[in-house]
Amino acid sequence: MSNITLHTLSSMKQAGEKFAVLTAYDACFSHLVSSAGTEVILVGDSLGMVLQGNDSTLPVTVEEMAYHTQAVAKGNQGSLIMADLPFMSYSTPEQAMDSAAALMQAGANMVKLEGGAWLADTISMLAERGIPVCAHLGLTPQTVNKLGGYRVQGRDQETAQQMINDAVLLQDAGASIILLECVPAILAKEITLALDVPVIGIGAGADTDAQVLVLHDMLGITPGRSPKFVKNFMADADSIEAAVQLYVAEVKAGTFPAQEHGFA
Ligand code: KIV
Ligand code: NA
Repeated sequence: MSNITLHTLSSMKQAGEKFAVLTAYDACFSHLVSSAGTEVILVGDSLGMVLQGNDSTLPVTVEEMAYHTQAVAKGNQGSLIMADLPFMSYSTPEQAMDSAAALMQAGANMVKLEGGAWLADTISMLAERGIPVCAHLGLTPQTVNKLGGYRVQGRDQETAQQMINDAVLLQDAGASIILLECVPAILAKEITLALDVPVIGIGAGADTDAQVLVLHDMLGITPGRSPKFVKNFMADADSIEAAVQLYVAEVKAGTFPAQEHGFA
C-alpha cells in the first residue's frame, strides 16, 4: 500500500501545495523516484517510445503495461502508482474493466485513460468498482493520428470551452484526477480553478496542482529535439538522484515550469 493516497493529493490541492509526478517503468527508477519524494509515479505508455523505441504509444499492450507496473510496484517506496490503460484497451466499459483490473492486480493504485465526454460511463463504472481514474485531456498521444500530429490543444474558443466542459463532466462522472497535456497556460489555470479534484499538467503552465514529465526527457537522454515543455534537470545536477530531487523541489516551489516551458 502506498503512503500517498488520493486523500493526500486532494488535501494538498486544498492547501495550495503542489505535488510532483514522474514516469518510471522499472524497479530501480521506481525506488529512486519514490525516495526523492515524488508523490505519484506514472507507469506511462510513453514506455512504448522511450523503452521500446516505437514512434508512438499505439503498439503498447495491457500485458506490457502490467509487466512494467509489477516492476514499479516492487521498487516503490510509498508513492501512489498510476498506470496507463494503453491504446484500444478501453474502447468499451467492459473492456476497460478487464484492462484496468489487470493493471490494479499488477500493483497500480489507479489507472489513467485518454479522452473526453465519451468516457463518462467508463469512468463511472471503474470508480464505482473501486478503481480510481485519471482522465487525460488536451494532447492525447493515443489519438495522434486523428489529431494530425503532436500539437497544442484548446487554442481557440470552441475547443477550449469543450475541454472545460469535458473536465467538469468527467470529474462529475467520478474521475479522481484530471491530467492536461499541451494546453495554453491560461486554459489550464481556468480548469484547475473550476475543479475540486487535482489537476496534473505537462506543457500546461505553472498553475496546475501538479506537474509530470517523462523521466528520460527530464534526464536529457531522449534522443532528438525535446519538446518546449521539457527541462533537462541533469544540467544542474551531478547525479540522477540529485536531478530528480531538483525536479521535485522546483515543482513544489512553483519554479518549474517557467514561462518558457509553457504555451500562451
Ligand atoms: O505516458 C506518459 O508518460 C504520459 C505522460 C506524458 C502524461 O501519459
Ligand atoms: Na501516456
